[in-house]
Amino acid sequence: MVERESFSSKLGFILSCLGSAIGLGNIWMFPWRLGQYGGAAFLIPYFICVFTLGVTGLVGEFGFGRSRGSGSLKGIQEVFKEKRLKFGKAFSIIPTLAVSGILVFYAIVAGWVFRYFYAALKGSFNNVDIPEYFNSFAGTQASILWHFIALLFTVCIVIVGVTKGIERINKIIMPSLFIIFIILLIRSLTLPGAIEGVKYLLIPDWSYLLKPITWIMALGQAFFTVSLNGAGMVVYGSYLKKDVDIPASAMHVAVFDTISALLAAFIIMPAVFSFGLDPTAGPSLLFITMPFIFKAMPLGYIFSVLFFLSIIFAAISSAINMLEASSEAIMSEFNLTRIKAVLIIAITAFLIAIPMDLSMEKFGAWADFITIYLAPLGSIIASVAFFWIYGSNKARNDINIGSNKPLGAWFEPVGKYLFTAASIVVLILGVIYNGIG
Ligand code: TRP
Repeated sequence: MVERESFSSKLGFILSCLGSAIGLGNIWMFPWRLGQYGGAAFLIPYFICVFTLGVTGLVGEFGFGRSRGSGSLKGIQEVFKEKRLKFGKAFSIIPTLAVSGILVFYAIVAGWVFRYFYAALKGSFNNVDIPEYFNSFAGTQASILWHFIALLFTVCIVIVGVTKGIERINKIIMPSLFIIFIILLIRSLTLPGAIEGVKYLLIPDWSYLLKPITWIMALGQAFFTVSLNGAGMVVYGSYLKKDVDIPASAMHVAVFDTISALLAAFIIMPAVFSFGLDPTAGPSLLFITMPFIFKAMPLGYIFSVLFFLSIIFAAISSAINMLEASSEAIMSEFNLTRIKAVLIIAITAFLIAIPMDLSMEKFGAWADFITIYLAPLGSIIASVAFFWIYGSNKARNDINIGSNKPLGAWFEPVGKYLFTAASIVVLILGVIYNGIG
């Protein structure tokens, strides 16, 4: 048995978790939800959800991983076995399936981002009809090559291992992402008419606080943005040493994840308003609206390159976490080497996704199924395994190891009842509203 790998520093751990958390959810979904659901008023439910439930979920996932010294597949199985409960195996598969299922469709989107980065580098936005451009490859064969390239990058990093691959790359790309965001923010805010976008984001429409949909979207966003589905953050927690302060780390991840989402919103919306475009365009904001803006803005070339580079960083660092969580699971279940496990997962994820490369309907159906059903279910199962079956008291003690400000007894019902109930609510509302995360 080789010794389990670990993060070499607390900073490396936090940046890797941030890498997981900061992704398309922050850049793609958050800005338009913020605008759509009452501007600054949306921030209230969002902050409440992220800093109570999101942080609790992170604390639980990190704690579970470190406490068991394994990812969620093995961790859940063992907890069930210790209490002589049945169906441990069946339950344990769900969070891992969820995280692999996200990898399947996320890698496709990451491929689009690579393609856009390449187009930005070549200066192609000037010469093409942008909406046409998106439709000319999303949902067609042309997407397969870029999807492959995105996965290949991810594989190259994960195959090298936790410290030398995952931690090292995140230590470079996460700080770079923040630096690029700040440069882009300055550019966007100094565009003529940018102030309208700032107003759109900041002037609160309080009536939205009375609408349940605002709270529901904030809840779904909070779960998705910090990557809660009972596997991704568990595996990073499992590489943690005993001297790391888990509650403080969870808080840091939530704070910087939120800052990045706000930065993305203040980069995208002022630019959208400056050019008189539609802020509620939703997903096409990234792939249609932004290139259009770069085409028209002074020095658009350089800003488009930086913009898509930063999105590559965001997308790849999330995909790394998905691939690591899935690979670690089969590594421990079947005693595989890292290289074999990573290749098996990546190749399978690639092949399964090819029909989705070719059809946007299939892509949407898969993404919905995974994010509506499997991901919240994964979160429920991991939380029940840790807080209920392993026990909330033992869980709290394990979480508190290495912590400067240990969590008090109040945390036990919060993890056991509040968080588990919230995960169930995310599942139910997701089904009712056809996707909230
Ligand atoms: N948090 C990521 C984002 O905002 C998405 C995500 C959801 C994720 N679940 C995950 C990433 C699990 C890694 C692992 O885009």
